[in-house]
Amino acid sequence: MQRQEARKPLVVGNWKMNGTLGSNEPLLAALRAGLDAALLAGVDVAVLPPYPYLPQVSAWLGETGVSWGAQDVAGHADGAYTGEVSAAMLRDLGCRWVTVGHSERRALLGETSEQVAVKADRTLQAGLLPIACVGETLADREQGLTESVIAAQIAPLARLASVGAPGQLVIAYEPVWAIGTGRTASPEQAQAVHAFIRGRLSAAGFDAASLRILYGGSVKAASAPALFAMPDIDGGLIGGASLIADEFIAICRSAASA
Ligand code: PGA
Repeated sequence: MQRQEARKPLVVGNWKMNGTLGSNEPLLAALRAGLDAALLAGVDVAVLPPYPYLPQVSAWLGETGVSWGAQDVAGHADGAYTGEVSAAMLRDLGCRWVTVGHSERRALLGETSEQVAVKADRTLQAGLLPIACVGETLADREQGLTESVIAAQIAPLARLASVGAPGQLVIAYEPVWAIGTGRTASPEQAQAVHAFIRGRLSAAGFDAASLRILYGGSVKAASAPALFAMPDIDGGLIGGASLIADEFIAICRSAASA
């Protein structure tokens, strides 16, 4: 099966809570030099710095065709929510993307799948594109619960199909046991879950042919080609390797040539 023309690969660098103004500079300079127009013709690339560095990223990458976004967003439009950042503010800063429901936020901050769907909805309403993260724990997988856990995580997102989201929602499948552990899901394991997600969201009314589903979890330049060769893997959400310019650019090249 060939990947549909409608699904241009997408590689997203999730910087997590890393960086300083100073340390970001050489990374951004290398990305600006290495992610040229020829490469970007074959792959969409985005970086997600911590909020305070969004203006720095926009200054460095603004003219390059690389887009940027945030790692989270408030579930409310505006008002008395101390410490929160709204989707409209992110749009003000030129963001295109927002990840919602990263497993670190689900696990450490107790975010529920319902809250994640509300955040995805806010993101869409502001004209930005949500990347909704899902994934099972090792215990879930060992108990044979992978599909039921993923199904429960994507169920609240399914209602976005009725608010004009088809073609705009991106899903990132990130098995919790593979994030930051150096342990990547095999291409076949990842493909099986991606196909499951595509089937579920297709049944919910999404255009399965255009829905981009990214894999995340210890993706490196060496493991990327085999993952991106799978028919339902449309790119990657990259954590640790996105902080190393050469690794990240090599991952982007793999996606462009998949
Ligand atoms: P990792 O992180 O590539 O460092 O495993 C991926 C993610 O959490 O998005």
